[in-house]
Amino acid sequence: MSKNVKEYRLTQDGSYTLYSGEYDECYHSTKDGALNESLHKHVIPAFSFAPKKSKLTILDICFGLGYNTFATIYYCMQNGIKIKLEIFSPELDLRLVQSLKTFTYPKEFAVLKSIIDALSEKQRYEDDRLTIEILIGNARESIKEISKEIDIIYQDPFSPQKNSLLWTKEYFKDIYALASKDVVLTTYSVATPVRLGLYESGFYVYEYTSEYTRSGTIASKSKLPLKLIDMELKKQRNPKAKSLRDDEYQ
Ligand SMILES: C[S@@+](CC[C@H](N)C(=O)[O-])C[C@H]1O[C@@H](n2cnc3c(N)ncnc32)[C@H](O)[C@@H]1O
Repeated sequence: MSKNVKEYRLTQDGSYTLYSGEYDECYHSTKDGALNESLHKHVIPAFSFAPKKSKLTILDICFGLGYNTFATIYYCMQNGIKIKLEIFSPELDLRLVQSLKTFTYPKEFAVLKSIIDALSEKQRYEDDRLTIEILIGNARESIKEISKEIDIIYQDPFSPQKNSLLWTKEYFKDIYALASKDVVLTTYSVATPVRLGLYESGFYVYEYTSEYTRSGTIASKSKLPLKLIDMELKKQRNPKAKSLRDDEYQ
């Protein structure tokens, strides 16, 4: 299959994702479902454990089809959450973003059509309560331009095997430096090298389970009411396990 191919794939919950020929992966888990995965692996745990503030700053790594950003707005609308949201989302693929105004999103996102169109056309959206900025370029560079403290991080690149430089210890250190003291980072990855990278960068690492998706990982600088993973014990039990490092992939 050609490297440039992007094909629609129907996922388990009836929402569509894309398959990327370049990465040989889908943008979402077809088993968990694109919308379901966004809501139950990222948005709901993030909002359950994030600090209760009148404004939250979110880093959505990476924008892709925008499900995590759109599911955040949808979740806030559905639950009467009237706080201000500021969302930064790095993305390499400008052509993908420009194509999103014609993407077949789930019906839940129909109310967000004007936001989707603005992001697709201008990579930016702003109203009284919401600012979204898609940072076109390499996330490793774009995150250095962000001067705000981040409250929520959706860590959602392609897999560590395919998108390695967005899962290394050095990357997580950069993310840690941006994060507020009670940040909540959500990710689908449960891989030990990823959890080690988070731990070695200073994060507490938690297991997250939900009846709606396969389990994932939550990380924070603070103690959360979740099952803390004893990473020292993991290292003792598996001395060969190590975090991913930039110099192995550059
Ligand atoms: C798994 S998809 C993200 C799915 C997305 N969260 C969603 O809800 O649709 C990964 C995305 O990361 C982008 N990407 C890969 N490497 C990147 C990098 N170094 N910097 C910025 N974006 C990158 C890809 O173009 C792709 O759109």
